[in-house]
Amino acid sequence: MSFHKPLDEIFPSVPDGLDARALDPAQVPAHVAVIMDGNGRWAKERGKVRLAGHKAGIGAVRETIRCASDVGVRYLTIYAFSSENWKRPEDEVRGLMDLFAKTMLAEVDGLHEEHVRVMTIGDASALPPKTRQAFAEAWEKTRNNTGMTLVVSVNYGGRAEILRAANDIAREAAAKQAAGVPFAPVDEAAFARHLDTADIPDPDLVIRTSGEMRISNFLLWQIAYSEFYITDVLWPDFDRYDFLRALLDFQGRTRRFGGVK
Ligand code: FPP
Repeated sequence: MSFHKPLDEIFPSVPDGLDARALDPAQVPAHVAVIMDGNGRWAKERGKVRLAGHKAGIGAVRETIRCASDVGVRYLTIYAFSSENWKRPEDEVRGLMDLFAKTMLAEVDGLHEEHVRVMTIGDASALPPKTRQAFAEAWEKTRNNTGMTLVVSVNYGGRAEILRAANDIAREAAAKQAAGVPFAPVDEAAFARHLDTADIPDPDLVIRTSGEMRISNFLLWQIAYSEFYITDVLWPDFDRYDFLRALLDFQGRTRRFGGVK
């Protein structure tokens, strides 16, 4: 196991008190999921509109993607827009949708060069056409890449996802019953195959910025045994060293998955 780049290229100026060499390449989490929170507060602190915070957050997204890919994370899921975020003021929602479209179009070539595969989870059908197309094009262009998978959660809600799966399963069960097939209970693996994350392993590590201690309807099924790391840093200020802190903290945990070590 090794990093994709020399450590001093990934972390060129490590702050005092942090040791990048302590990072074990064999213990890098395969799947990191991030709740990018605090854009609004970041903007407010600077007397700016909320959208300015979201725009500033793009830099942190770029840096986190690059760093995660360089250290060998296989899946990085980012919570870009929840199914509840439609309740925000109309201009913020519109601004975010434009930002997603523009950012995806601007970044896809760079992501492709880094062999990143870009996909979405959530109900993309409700997105404005421009935004939906930008994500669809990113998927088309990168779908055969074998590097890190970037999973963008957009119009995503954990409960809605579980309901969609339950309804799929109920529909299949009704069809089977009508065909006279005897009842067979659904197990966890079969249920998980109906989720948006069917082909994605559960997150090992969930990071939330801005100090909030809640899960906000994110990956409810998938986080059953995830480790949590919460930092007070506001998302636009989150950088590779904050990501390194989260990884080192994760590597210090003992995961028991309900058993004993
Ligand atoms: C939460 O902060 C942040 C969001 C709802 C949006 C995050 C989106 C980005 C950073 C852009 C990502 C871009 C792509 C292409 C995926 P908040 O507004 O809830 O902050 P607050 O809690 O301080 O108000």
